[in-house]
Amino acid sequence: MESFVYENATRVYFGRGCVGASLEEAVRGLGKTVLLAYGGGSIKKNGIYGEVTGILKKAGKEIVDFPGIMPNPTWRKVQEGKRAVKEHGVDFILGVGGGSVMDCCKAISMAAATERDVWEEYWIRKGVVDFEPVPVGLIVTVVGTGSEVNGEGVITNEEQKIKTSRNYPRCNARFAMLDPVYTYTVSPQQTAAGGFDMLSHVMETYFSGPDDGNISDAVSEALMRTIIRNLPVAIREPENYEARSNLMWASSMAEIGIIKLGKRCDFEAHMIEHQMGAFTDCNHGMGLAVIHPAYYRRICRDGLAKFAAFAERVWEIPAQGKTQEELALAGIDALEAFIRSIGLPATLRELGITDRSLLKPIADSCLINEGGYRALTHGEILEILEECY
Ligand code: NZQ
Ligand code: ZN
Repeated sequence: MESFVYENATRVYFGRGCVGASLEEAVRGLGKTVLLAYGGGSIKKNGIYGEVTGILKKAGKEIVDFPGIMPNPTWRKVQEGKRAVKEHGVDFILGVGGGSVMDCCKAISMAAATERDVWEEYWIRKGVVDFEPVPVGLIVTVVGTGSEVNGEGVITNEEQKIKTSRNYPRCNARFAMLDPVYTYTVSPQQTAAGGFDMLSHVMETYFSGPDDGNISDAVSEALMRTIIRNLPVAIREPENYEARSNLMWASSMAEIGIIKLGKRCDFEAHMIEHQMGAFTDCNHGMGLAVIHPAYYRRICRDGLAKFAAFAERVWEIPAQGKTQEELALAGIDALEAFIRSIGLPATLRELGITDRSLLKPIADSCLINEGGYRALTHGEILEILEECY
């Protein structure tokens, strides 16, 4: 195993009714004025907004409403949040939503606490957070990113056409509340997209060295099986508590840092999807679903034993009568069939990317990660995108 330092400062409340039972206690001591940050309005339709504001008011908090955080949150929205925090003397930020809301809150918490150019110094470059960000609490309403249990924030700068992430432990939320019932109203399409995102987080960790019998790989295999088993159930039966709760915790488990310990981690598919998002604003999980099979067929010969193990242990494909390469490719075929079976797009055009001239600028602007079995070139990324078109 590679050496590591592990910390995680987020207190997690999990389970049915956890917001009603514990929000008042969780916000005690965080100050009087709260920036209540959320997305395009789903929480008003499903009643979560009413429940949360009721608890905050009962706790004597003053609420500054901050709606409209869009999927793929922008740097412009972060600046709007920063202004709201300063103008109203906000003491803490409560994000209620999915990865987009949570990431935007973390970036606001940084931007509002320093006069530095946070985009340039902390997102374009990796900076040292030597100041205290505004405290953040998170209530999760759609799962997939795992943002609730890490310090990561993915932000899109529309002018620069860059979607990029940074992970600062100081941005970890003080608390995260995970009630699986809150995800019952998530659409089948977004359930599938979020489910694939968490599967991708596990795969991007699993398909990297060192391959030395690391305990992380065994946990990752269990996580992948859990996601594959529960995702079709949650799509078919949105109010199945067991499926929703397993997916909710699997999503956090994938990104809480535990399975990454001692691993190099790949995340090249994420680098490609992020630039697809920067140029086209596509859905994160759906973009990943398009890229993965083509990317894995390209690199699987560089990590053949691991891809064969994936086929056998995750997809339960018998090894007998197959070469290692045939087994590895059968695993990728199974992944592709799963993507189709849960209704996710399999091509860029199905995803809505119809302008082929964008593929080269997307490929050329992707970050190249060194952690996987083989580092791609920008030319290879373009070939993958052309294959996916
Ligand atoms: O905006 P509203 O109206 O709330 O609707 C949202 C949004 O349209 C809807 N939704 C949320 N809760 C709902 C609901 N609909 C019905 N019922 C509910 N209870 O879901 C839609 C998608 O929400 P969004 O937050 O955009 O999805 P997701 O959680 O997939 O987040 C995606 C963002 O997170 C980034 C992605 O790149 C993307 O920008 N990521 C963040 C990561 C992290 N911080 O660790 C890691 C990931 O790899 C990822 O890059
Ligand atoms: Zn992701």
